[in-house]
Amino acid sequence: MSRSELLRRLGIEHPVVLAPLGGGPGTPQLAAAVSNAGGLGSLGVAYLAPQQILDEVGRTRALTSRPIAVNLFAGGVPATPPAYDASAMVSILSDIHAELGLPRPTVPPFPHDPFAEQFEAVLEARPEVFSFIFGALDPTAVRDLHARGIIVLGTATTVEEAHILADTGVDAVIAQGAESGGHRGTFAAPFEAAMVPMLQLVRQIAEFAPVIAAGGIMDGRDVRAAIESGAAAAQIGTAFLSCPESGASAAYRQALLSSKTDTTVVTRAFSGRPARGLRNQFIEMLEGREQAILPYPLQNAVTRPMRTAASKLGKAEFLSMWAGQGVARSRAMPARELVTKLVQESQQ
Ligand SMILES: Cc1cc2nc3c(=O)[nH]c(=O)nc-3n(C[C@H](O)[C@H](O)[C@H](O)COP(=O)(O)O)c2cc1C
Repeated sequence: MSRSELLRRLGIEHPVVLAPLGGGPGTPQLAAAVSNAGGLGSLGVAYLAPQQILDEVGRTRALTSRPIAVNLFAGGVPATPPAYDASAMVSILSDIHAELGLPRPTVPPFPHDPFAEQFEAVLEARPEVFSFIFGALDPTAVRDLHARGIIVLGTATTVEEAHILADTGVDAVIAQGAESGGHRGTFAAPFEAAMVPMLQLVRQIAEFAPVIAAGGIMDGRDVRAAIESGAAAAQIGTAFLSCPESGASAAYRQALLSSKTDTTVVTRAFSGRPARGLRNQFIEMLEGREQAILPYPLQNAVTRPMRTAASKLGKAEFLSMWAGQGVARSRAMPARELVTKLVQESQQ
């Protein structure tokens, strides 16, 4: 499928896709602004319950009549909870909870995988596009989406993962380069072996599947480089976090805009799964104490009270501030302007 053919099927004018930004930074306002500007706005709904997914899509539909994408985590949660000992993590978090004025940390039961129920809600909500990360879908699930006219995008961090996704019938592969902010989508390789630079990944995957490039794309020159390497479009996360429509807290926003160099690291500290974000005190506290980190997604559940309180109190040292390696080139402007600027710059 050619680049213009994929854009036509996605129903968008410009090769700009807002990355799904799950967990709060993404909002209906941000997604709608990108769609209204001729890009594709995505909603990262992986942390929401089925009814919340329907509500979030409804709020976005009220703000735009253009196509939107909805994104879920399709894997990563073990079917049988692994063995773990939470005592070291509880002890680390106890001191932080005391500092934040929170009660002593408690360890909830190992979370179950919400994907099946969430997927039903997505089928009901019928977004124009469905994207996923952390795994591959069953080909029957891809067919169910296609039967409803929904375009399907899967995320790969290696060429092998892209082949697995292509074999299930996805319409395009999101090539998530090593530069990317947020969780690594890796599902068929050790994480350390799946840190391929974005342009490398795009060039190789473009040989056998339509590609959307992701990772470190901050301006129009980056968009152009991705397209010249064979991508049909660019999926952009970090650059949109500084837009007024994003849900990023004041402390997170300030940390993004004051980054002068790449101060990101890949860490399992917040969720138990490798993700790229701005280095801060909590990440440093766990360096050399990785054995205390609980398996994904339990670690995400036990650090949630800390992250929520830190966000309210403006304490950047205990927030997960996901960001890609281009963070120092963040620009604060309304999302519509950013889309226009990305397009203009890419054509210069
Ligand atoms: C704050 C944040 C949240 C993210 N949440 C999701 C998500 O829910 N689902 C997903 O597929 N990708 C998520 N990502 C990863 C993006 O899809 C994409 O790979 C990444 O933003 C691209 O790199 P960039 O941030 O350098 O543009 C997230 C990224 C960030 C920065």
